[in-house]
Amino acid sequence: MTGAGGQLGRELRTLSSAHPEHEFIFSDIAAGGPDDRIEILDICDAAAVLSAVKSYGADTIVNCAAYTNVDGAEDDEETADRVNRLAVRNLALAAKETGAFLVHVSTDYVFPGNACTPYRETDTPSPASAYGRTKLAGEQEITASGCRHVILRTAWLYSHYGKNFVKTMQRLTREKECLRVVYDQVGSPTYAGDLARAILTILADPDVDSKQGIYHYTGEGVCSWYDFAVTINALCGHHCDISPCRSEEWPSKVQRPHYSVLDKSRIKTAFGLRIPHWMDSLTGMLSEQKTIQ
Ligand SMILES: NC(=O)c1ccc[n+]([C@@H]2O[C@H](COP(=O)([O-])OP(=O)(O)OC[C@H]3O[C@@H](n4cnc5c(N)ncnc54)[C@H](OP(=O)(O)O)[C@@H]3O)[C@@H](O)[C@H]2O)c1
Repeated sequence: MTGAGGQLGRELRTLSSAHPEHEFIFSDIAAGGPDDRIEILDICDAAAVLSAVKSYGADTIVNCAAYTNVDGAEDDEETADRVNRLAVRNLALAAKETGAFLVHVSTDYVFPGNACTPYRETDTPSPASAYGRTKLAGEQEITASGCRHVILRTAWLYSHYGKNFVKTMQRLTREKECLRVVYDQVGSPTYAGDLARAILTILADPDVDSKQGIYHYTGEGVCSWYDFAVTINALCGHHCDISPCRSEEWPSKVQRPHYSVLDKSRIKTAFGLRIPHWMDSLTGMLSEQKTIQ
């Protein structure tokens, strides 16, 4: 697994301990703490990628690594392209050469976000941001390589780990008396632990070879960032006064999608997945965190 130090990577690592039938090798561009068991692998290094896949005898590559700074990509598309396209090509070519199966994670940002019904896998992508362009280009490299693969597009990812909206709102609603949060961008919050579980289900499917292609995966249900923030505030028992505002009040160089909802019918049918509602997953994640603290 690549990107093992990120949000999704760390959730997958947590789940992996319940799967002793598989041998997992975790890698990232940098080592974690002393107990982290992370191999250093820069996926931008084509030779290192091929050598790692061969030396580990990997039958599956799960790519959780990415350049995920959406604003940063607008200023430095070249760097984003190196990680989200060229490095993905390295993984795809290594998979093709060795016969490994590649699971890759992509994003709702491949769509412009101006629809009013959920995006399907068959809808034509048309990214409105540098991040979206580089992620779409990564998908295209995989398809062009001819390697065995599944591409999972997700959105609004959060986790116990790393920086994300849930953790930011937990802090802000504790520290501030009032907040304004946009209500004119809607999507489906996705707990990275749920996505990690879905990846393990896909990998356990004996017919996965006949089910290759692109799939959409997010939490069930739809909300705005405002609804999401209000729910986090309430579940944390905080009393911040949150009011809705429009996107124009937060000027940004990136045009963020107003509508990020993905249709998940295909993945549910193909792999028999039952996807939790975003509110149930959020409740579970926050109560687990309370137990940990
Ligand atoms: N976050 C979201 O809301 C969201 C939404 C839709 C889709 N996605 C997609 O979901 C996937 C997982 O996202 P995430 O939020 O878990 O990402 P993340 O937390 O940013 O983790 C990505 C990991 O990849 C590492 N990495 C970066 N460049 C690398 C390289 N050249 N070689 C090896 N590792 C490298 C990062 O290291 P550094 O931290 O040191 O850079 C980080 O540990 C990504 O494909 C992302 O595009 C995310």
